[in-house]
Amino acid sequence: MQQTLILLKPDAVQRRLVGEILIRFEQKGLRLAGLKLLQCSRELAEKHYAVHKGKPFYESLLSFLTSGPTVALVLEGREAVAVGRSLMGLTDGAKAPPGTIRGDFAISVQNNLVHGSDSPENAALEIALWFAPTELTKYTGVDSAWVG
Ligand code: RTP
Ligand code: MG
Repeated sequence: MQQTLILLKPDAVQRRLVGEILIRFEQKGLRLAGLKLLQCSRELAEKHYAVHKGKPFYESLLSFLTSGPTVALVLEGREAVAVGRSLMGLTDGAKAPPGTIRGDFAISVQNNLVHGSDSPENAALEIALWFAPTELTKYTGVDSAWVG
């Protein structure tokens, strides 16, 4: 079963949108394997967004991600990475289509509520960054025969 790392960034927590966003992923058929609320450190933020180091928005992005608590999720299901990204919508909230999380709740490029892994390989790396193995749960979904 494929897994993805989803972050509900500090704007989602501050704007009390955690429940509203989480329900989108659950309703689609993704299943929780890990969930926690934490204050992201500068060190963790640097590792998480290492690919963006040197870009003009890098420092601002790190300040944003460390500005308050973040909800970290590991979600699993069929094509979890692609499904997660499609539910999120385009990076720029102003361009994200209605019906997506960013399209419905964000208008900023930076403060766009959610992060989602962009490949299964990056998902594995990001999950290891944000979660200890003991924080992840394995179980059989009682509805798996129906949800698939
Ligand atoms: P994410 O990694 O958070 O899932 O977002 P993404 O793939 O849709 O976008 P990415 O290009 O990876 O950018 C990472 C995050 O950096 C902020 N950003 N700011 N000011 C800007 O031009 C700019 N561009 C990107 C956003 O918070 C974006 O989600
Ligand atoms: Mg990205």
